[in-house]
Amino acid sequence: MQIRAAVLEEFGQPLKIQEIDLAGPAKGEVLVRLEACGVCHTDLYTASGADPSGYAPTVLGHEGAGVVESVGEGVTSLQPGDHVVTLFSPQCRECIHCQSPKTNLCLAIREQQNKGYLPDGTTRLSRDGDPIRHFMGTSTFAEATVMPEIALAKVAPDAPLDRCALFACGLSTGLGAAMFTAKVEAGSTCVVFGAGMVGLGAVAGCRLQGAERIICVDLSDDRLELAKGQGATEVWKADANTVDRILEETGGFGADYTFEATGLVGVMRQAVESARMGWGLCTVCGVAGKGETLDIVPRFLITGRRVCGSSFGGVKGRDQVPELVQRYLDGDIDVDPFISHRITLDDVNKGFELMEAQDGIRSVIEF
Ligand SMILES: NC(=O)c1ccc[n+]([C@@H]2O[C@H](COP(=O)([O-])OP(=O)(O)OC[C@H]3O[C@@H](n4cnc5c(N)ncnc54)[C@H](O)[C@@H]3O)[C@@H](O)[C@H]2O)c1
Ligand SMILES: [Zn+2]
Ligand SMILES: [Zn+2]
Repeated sequence: MQIRAAVLEEFGQPLKIQEIDLAGPAKGEVLVRLEACGVCHTDLYTASGADPSGYAPTVLGHEGAGVVESVGEGVTSLQPGDHVVTLFSPQCRECIHCQSPKTNLCLAIREQQNKGYLPDGTTRLSRDGDPIRHFMGTSTFAEATVMPEIALAKVAPDAPLDRCALFACGLSTGLGAAMFTAKVEAGSTCVVFGAGMVGLGAVAGCRLQGAERIICVDLSDDRLELAKGQGATEVWKADANTVDRILEETGGFGADYTFEATGLVGVMRQAVESARMGWGLCTVCGVAGKGETLDIVPRFLITGRRVCGSSFGGVKGRDQVPELVQRYLDGDIDVDPFISHRITLDDVNKGFELMEAQDGIRSVIEF
């Protein structure tokens, strides 16, 4: 079939919206008609050429939600009409990582996905017979996509798909960092650095876990206001003294849980240093620039602080994205304030501009 899609032709250049070909789903694959897709930093990171593993041409986009149109041979868990959220982090339920409760990093299709291919090593996207590679296994800046069954989470049909799209990346990443990676304990003190989509999700996750104090730190007053809406009990303007202030306000000890959601290695360091001696856990969500490293004075670790990273919030996508969406439907998570702009596929480059200007939290493409 012919679909309209936003193609990255050349790094550093605007995406080009055009008609390309999408082949039907092969064995184990599913054709999804997209209803909505968020514009995320990773798309821009790749489009800019900053990502060393990036390639072109490709169809970007990974924060998608839509409706199953048809399924390939052997697909048993999905059928036409099902509502799905796309997963750049799949869940095969069989590999050694999927079988462990300790990680969400499924090993099943990693290698081919990173190279831009579906699991069988080919693409369903093409133009004039020339293959176009997939991006993050999702390629959701398009009217439709073909994805492996193991990379789609079936969600409640009554959940609006524009809201569901945010669970495909940013929101689940933040929520999950608090709920599944850090497993915040009730009554604890948490500090979240950064109040973008990921940090705001982490604030909401801390609240859902029953944290007593949730301090959110950012440079933007508007974003700090949103953090209050997600459950931050205190909001602070970021400055060079943030670590000292956290220590002062916690009897000199530091916070039980800290979360970094800025992508800045200097802030990651602050998050480590403001974690409590004895048991403080710092969870790093941000993606740092190429070649950057995180400086930690080892004394902070010897005295009982721990540091861990979190990819997609530790969320096991097929099992837990539907659960998070259900919590939204139950009224536990307020998703609407995150959708700041609704745009068409033709305006996808505008979505990038809005993101660079930090105008709003998320632009969502509606198809
Ligand atoms: N781990 C994952 O799986 C995953 C998934 C999605 C995004 N990310 C990464 O998470 C990070 C955050 O994503 P986002 O979409 O929320 O980004 P964002 O740019 O919207 O938000 C970052 C926030 O950090 C704030 N900030 C800047 N300097 C600060 C400082 N010194 N102290 C406190 N706050 C400061 C900014 O004002 C901004 O509000 C990015 O690095 C992104 O690439 C990771
Ligand atoms: Zn993303
Ligand atoms: Zn797996």
